[in-house]
Amino acid sequence: MKILVIGGGGREHAVVRKLKESPRVSEIYCAPGNGGISRDAQCVPIAASDIPGVVKFAEEKKISLVFVTPDNPLAAGMVDALQKAGIRAFGPTARAAQIESSKVFAKGLMKKYHIPTAEYQVFDDPQKAFRFICERKKFPAVIKADGLAFGKGVVIARDLSEALYGVKIIMDDKMFGDSGNRVVVEDYLKGPEVSVLAFTDGKTIRPMVSAKDHKRAFNGGQGPNTGGMGTISPNPYYTPKIAEECMNTIFLPTIEAMNREGRPFQGCLYFGLMLTEDGPKVIEYNSRFGDPETQVILPLLKTDFTDVIESVVEGRLENQKIEWDSGACACVVLASGGYPHHYETGFEIKGLDKNGQMEGATVYHAGTEYRNGRFYTAGGRVLGVTARGKNLEEAVSKSYAAAGKIRFNGMFYRNDIGK
Ligand code: AMP
Ligand code: GLY
Repeated sequence: MKILVIGGGGREHAVVRKLKESPRVSEIYCAPGNGGISRDAQCVPIAASDIPGVVKFAEEKKISLVFVTPDNPLAAGMVDALQKAGIRAFGPTARAAQIESSKVFAKGLMKKYHIPTAEYQVFDDPQKAFRFICERKKFPAVIKADGLAFGKGVVIARDLSEALYGVKIIMDDKMFGDSGNRVVVEDYLKGPEVSVLAFTDGKTIRPMVSAKDHKRAFNGGQGPNTGGMGTISPNPYYTPKIAEECMNTIFLPTIEAMNREGRPFQGCLYFGLMLTEDGPKVIEYNSRFGDPETQVILPLLKTDFTDVIESVVEGRLENQKIEWDSGACACVVLASGGYPHHYETGFEIKGLDKNGQMEGATVYHAGTEYRNGRFYTAGGRVLGVTARGKNLEEAVSKSYAAAGKIRFNGMFYRNDIGK
């Protein structure tokens, strides 16, 4: 198989390295990729958002399967365009990807099909949103931009002034453009968060091992929300009993709901869950693999990844064997000083070998550039240092031992991933 992976972050690096393990894969391309990915795949200078460019390249190279990883091209219909050109693609169509790209759609779906989630209201007028929040006086209040917002479209407001500020930046200042034309105002949920990613062909749903993200920038869950500063798998809060409950009250009903709406979902469906006192509830759906969840989930997959993704694309997941390692995996993200706000790039990274790797861990490159045999920082999240262990303690300590040997100007990371 010749596979083209779309995207260029740590998650895409994890996908590329997993595909590379398969004896069925002869060539891997990545558009656009990054410095670290270039040591494992042939990077091509096509933007992840360039749908005609990707279709043309896939046709020219006779690509067997395109793996569309990020949210934006999925929402914009890259899979639809590839299918139309007769090219196999892993990922949902634009209509199915709306489960992520419109929070108003996702909330409406859950309400209609009685899938547990936070109570909410939708507003397209900031004045009405203000008035609702003032009258309701329930804090914290959660305010979400309807559309995609680089994972930053959620404001957890502790009081009225924060809530009003949240509505203002999303709806008046249009910080996320048209994504903020509507907002969802919803109840604040409490409990441990769990990420469950699942393979689905629209008929069968097969959850992967669970994961836990660490979204805040600093130790102890302090500081601003980020794309994710580290992950562990499995998530210790996600017991077999809770998994069974989620299957019955959330996973199967969601697949069924999407079919009834005429939006069958094929690909990876990501359930962001909160384990509340009243049972598990959906915080959000993503129409794709998570970042950095993928970095700890795929290393635990024992079955040939190409077999699994092909059975998703061909609608025969029901008969596909999927085996997971019984151990654990941890990923510590090394970030640029200042991330998730302003940061500088272009600093040399020390401690990696010529392939951007090191002994004792796998280093997934999120934002790096490769020049003349050296690696330089090129993003906010730079590396995801990942290790497997027979249990969580071992995986975490191996990841930190490796992370401690890497250095670049301004580098910081959390010391409490998995703690
Ligand atoms: P989202 O982009 O929807 O995943 O939201 C980002 C983060 O905000 C989530 O991972 C949660 O930590 C938090 N969050 C979102 N919705 C809620 C909610 N209703 N209650 C509490 N926390 C929430
Ligand atoms: N790690 C959260 C996400 O990928 O959306």
